[in-house]
Amino acid sequence: MEPNASASLPRYEHLYIDGQWVTPLDGQLIESIDPSTGKAWAVAPLGGIKDIDRAVAAARQALVGEWGRMPGHQRAALLRRLAELLLAAVPELARIESRDNGNLVKDHRASLTAQAQWFQWFASLADKTHGTTIPLEEGMHGFTTRVPVGVVGAIIPWNAPLLSICLKVGPALAAGCTVVIKPAEQTPVSALEFARLTQAAGFPPGVVNVVPGLGRIAGAHLVQHADVDKISFTGEGGTAKRMLREGSDNLKRFSFELGGKAPHIIFADADLDSALNAATACAWRLTGQSCALGSRVLVERPIYDRAVEVFRERAASVRVGLPSLDSSHMGPQISEEQLRKTLSYVDLGRQEGAELVAGGRRILSGGLADGYFVEPTVFAGVSNRMRIAREEIFGPVASLIPFDDEEQALAIANDTPYGLTAGLWTRDVGRAHRVASRITAGMVWVNTYSYLRWSTPYGGFKTSGWGRENGIDALDPYLETRTTILSTEGRFSNPYDD
Ligand code: NAI
Ligand code: MG
Repeated sequence: MEPNASASLPRYEHLYIDGQWVTPLDGQLIESIDPSTGKAWAVAPLGGIKDIDRAVAAARQALVGEWGRMPGHQRAALLRRLAELLLAAVPELARIESRDNGNLVKDHRASLTAQAQWFQWFASLADKTHGTTIPLEEGMHGFTTRVPVGVVGAIIPWNAPLLSICLKVGPALAAGCTVVIKPAEQTPVSALEFARLTQAAGFPPGVVNVVPGLGRIAGAHLVQHADVDKISFTGEGGTAKRMLREGSDNLKRFSFELGGKAPHIIFADADLDSALNAATACAWRLTGQSCALGSRVLVERPIYDRAVEVFRERAASVRVGLPSLDSSHMGPQISEEQLRKTLSYVDLGRQEGAELVAGGRRILSGGLADGYFVEPTVFAGVSNRMRIAREEIFGPVASLIPFDDEEQALAIANDTPYGLTAGLWTRDVGRAHRVASRITAGMVWVNTYSYLRWSTPYGGFKTSGWGRENGIDALDPYLETRTTILSTEGRFSNPYDD
């Protein structure tokens, strides 16, 4: 890094470990790039192996201290305070997160406002980790208690850093665990701001630790660490498989949220305007950098041409622009690497014989040339065998696939290694239930799309992941069950005296 070049940038030089702001021991400082300009916007710390070690040690220590003895209602009070501080910080956090990952400030504002409510929900669960009593013979008393799983490593992606932190760290803290957060190397800053909020809320030292760092160094070390009890990860499937191999020594727990290639099925009897509004909105959401995207749009043959036409017109009306402007509909991709990945899939789609109906190019005009902007893209005539229909692109690329009847729609929808989300549009209530009940995905939206709340369990079938986030059971992955059996008589006869 050129010290002079970055002298005027906001500087985040410290990691948050054991309630202290500390200099990386074996890490370094890097520049964080603003994807809308391609230029550094802040200086951020990268922690290394020794930093992960001391964060894990602090998290372990906190489990046996004040935090470990704190009753659930007091953990709830801290989480509620955190929710209030988060809500007050929404405008600033939205700007910061947008500089780091390029998503629209207005989208971050909406997401962060919801996240405050999410923390309230997790708070409401913190003092309800009840166990059960087990009926046994007279003189025997059996009961279960739910205890925190221990030290949790939260490995966070760049596409929605604060939301991912909320979905993992919220329930982990409600359950009484302690956490080491490792944000993505592309987006190190917002997690440090989150640490500041937890400090202000009054969480004891060591309960929340934040160590930005490289995946293959800090992330891998956290995964391999013998004193980490659980890893909660959102990211790429290949990374998850590697984590399972590298983190198997102490048989730690894993939960994974690993993306998708969602079918968005539109039957000819649907409210077509609403269906196409939803399909065009949810194919390009967050510049395509979302695991929940409806990127395979399955359209019944009689309305297929109309759908292609609407997609073509809609692509032309999307205002791609600076993330800071409320007038923008879509921002840049996170990085040059992600932009190149998207453009390479555009080339691939053409080679595979799909028809490029709209978009497909990097945007080099309108003051956007230095950022990683790409046009909203539409392929028609896509077959589900093509790689553009099988692989997660993570760019704003919609693939329109025709189908002839319900059976074929289901066959195409389920013919994917993924199983995170799915959508379907029909006015036939019987069909709605029939199709929804046969889709192999963890979340099915009927006559709506992308609706997600703290109360709705979220996670994947098949290669889209392990476990669920949100919902009434959100704390389960962060709790172990201890069964205690006690004899009220306390007598145990000698089996060897016969
Ligand atoms: P990734 O899975 O490599 O990175 C996500 C997080 O894991 C980051 O914090 C990273 O530092 C960490 N990480 C990477 N390698 C690690 C390792 N060996 N051990 C421990 N931690 C490690 O994803 P990446 O490379 O940023 O994106 C690649 C593709 O993954 C995207 O194009 C997209 O298709 C998919 N993806 C899916 C996401 C989702 O929401 N499910 C989120 C991010 C990426
Ligand atoms: Mg990677």
